[in-house]
Amino acid sequence: MGRLRIGVLASGRGSNFQSIAESIQRGEIDAEIAILVCNVPGASAIERAKTLGVPYVVIDHTKFGTDREAFEADVVGILRKHDVGLVVLAGFMRLLTPFFLRQFPNRILNIHPSLLPAFPGTHGVRDAVNHGAKVSGLTVHFVDESLDGGPIVLQKAVPVRDDDTEETLAARILEWEHKMYPLAVKLFAEGRLTVEGRRVKINWDGLQPLPAP
Ligand code: GRF
Repeated sequence: MGRLRIGVLASGRGSNFQSIAESIQRGEIDAEIAILVCNVPGASAIERAKTLGVPYVVIDHTKFGTDREAFEADVVGILRKHDVGLVVLAGFMRLLTPFFLRQFPNRILNIHPSLLPAFPGTHGVRDAVNHGAKVSGLTVHFVDESLDGGPIVLQKAVPVRDDDTEETLAARILEWEHKMYPLAVKLFAEGRLTVEGRRVKINWDGLQPLPAP
């Protein structure tokens, strides 16, 4: 098998995209970001791609109206053209249809800023704070047809402080996102993940396993 080629999909800030790209550049992950696909013109993920020297393309979903599959067909075409073997969602704010998911079974990763299945959806951090959760965190998971419900690869718990706001908690979770997402991509790239139903088994041989939460 050749070196894994990754397609990153982003809609906004792109800090997770950058953390993965930099981890690759430091030689920690044997893979290459073949293409960044951004669906929002002007998003800062695009500036980061330029700075990092990562090829990128902008596919503005609003040009496709309500035709999600037409938008996704263009994205799939780009990913295929770049021979992508792993799709990494990094703040990608579009729900993917079964059409897209069928193209990359167990080959799409997402990161979500809560301990799933708690607080799925767009406001995972805000919902945890408003609920009064004492612990939240992040989840890296494979993407399936459910909303934030696919098989879980990695989780990291982050305590919620009494004086936390959505912003302060999101910032502390994000620091961990930037460590855990590259780790999940590395585990995938090294063929260490086995999906068995809902459970993802990890082969940690020769690696430092995660400390207990
Ligand atoms: C992160 O908080 C991630 O958990 C969520 O969207 C945010 C993306 O941030 N899915 P960035 O665009 O990677 O900076």
